[in-house]
Amino acid sequence: MKVLVTGAAGFIGSYVCHALLNRGFEVSGLDSLNAYYDPGLKARRLEFLEPRAGFRFHTLDIADHEALASLFTTERYDTVIHLAAQAGVRHSLDNPFAYAESNLTGHLSVLEAVRHAAPRPFLVYASSSSVYGNSTPAPFCEDARVDSPVSLYAATKRSGELLSESYANLYGMAQVGLRFFTVYGPWGRPDMAYWTFARKILDGEPIEVFNSGDLKRDFTWIDDIVDGVARIAERGPLDGGRLHRIYNIGNNRPERLTDFIAALERALGETAERVMLPMQPGDVYETAADITAIQTDYGFAPATRMEDGLARFAEWFRAYRAGRADTWRQG
Ligand SMILES: NC(=O)c1ccc[n+]([C@@H]2O[C@H](COP(=O)([O-])OP(=O)(O)OC[C@H]3O[C@@H](n4cnc5c(N)ncnc54)[C@H](O)[C@@H]3O)[C@@H](O)[C@H]2O)c1
Repeated sequence: MKVLVTGAAGFIGSYVCHALLNRGFEVSGLDSLNAYYDPGLKARRLEFLEPRAGFRFHTLDIADHEALASLFTTERYDTVIHLAAQAGVRHSLDNPFAYAESNLTGHLSVLEAVRHAAPRPFLVYASSSSVYGNSTPAPFCEDARVDSPVSLYAATKRSGELLSESYANLYGMAQVGLRFFTVYGPWGRPDMAYWTFARKILDGEPIEVFNSGDLKRDFTWIDDIVDGVARIAERGPLDGGRLHRIYNIGNNRPERLTDFIAALERALGETAERVMLPMQPGDVYETAADITAIQTDYGFAPATRMEDGLARFAEWFRAYRAGRADTWRQG
């Protein structure tokens, strides 16, 4: 079985590649290695993947639909796990076209490449909890109305879901869309709050706490997420019913931001100086996943408590900053 993972040098993508290799899949990874955050971190993630038997890497921009189509003529895939995207809610306010390029044109390129491939691969792609905006009652169910995004990032992720739905209807393409809920862990994303908080706390800088900490997030440990993605790749599309299914994939245990910061302080053994600020444009008040559907269909079962995950992250983060993070530890 051969799988293509887009965004393979990214946080979630790199873990997904390891998990699939561990399960005996042949894995091709692609990534544009863009500079949205430190490309050195993406290169470090790849250093752990490239020596592994069964792994190949391609530097490629998915918005270049001809280059992507040509990759599909040289390699055949049973499954495509499409994780490449311009991520980040706040950056979308300042750099809107990067989101259109990777998340709209890029998603369409992947759909076209899959559509024309023979045999046609099963497509699993990343969406986001941000599609729920601020008007969905918690916990969020997949069948809730999601037509009021509060950020451009969310609008592009919802657009990806709609593009996928149209390709399922038009061309009978089997797909699974996954709405990820705030994923954290070692080798993570430096633009995310848990990383910025940890860096500032260790550097003795104040941390900015939006909406005075009155926000809730369903923080999900990376290994739990990856286990869910790998289960879907192994099981494939379900028989019968809808060709295109969308699932929440989260921890199902929303935490207050204030509790999250307190747990991070305990994990780091340091106290944060807090600067309380109002709600930011683009932010949602709460994310909370109802995971009944993915539990029932694929046996997804997140197992990591926030305190345990943060302790492991903090241990890794100290080592990473000291230049001592030289192993890949995965669940
Ligand atoms: N991490 C989270 O909490 C979270 C939450 C919701 C959704 N998601 C989604 O999950 C997916 C993976 O996120 P992540 O946290 O690993 O982010 P990431 O930024 O670490 O990984 C994305 C990777 O895609 C690559 N990429 C971006 N545009 C590309 C393009 N046009 N062509 C080829 N490669 C490109 C980037 O270089 C990066 O390595 C994304 O689709 C993201 O929107 C993540």
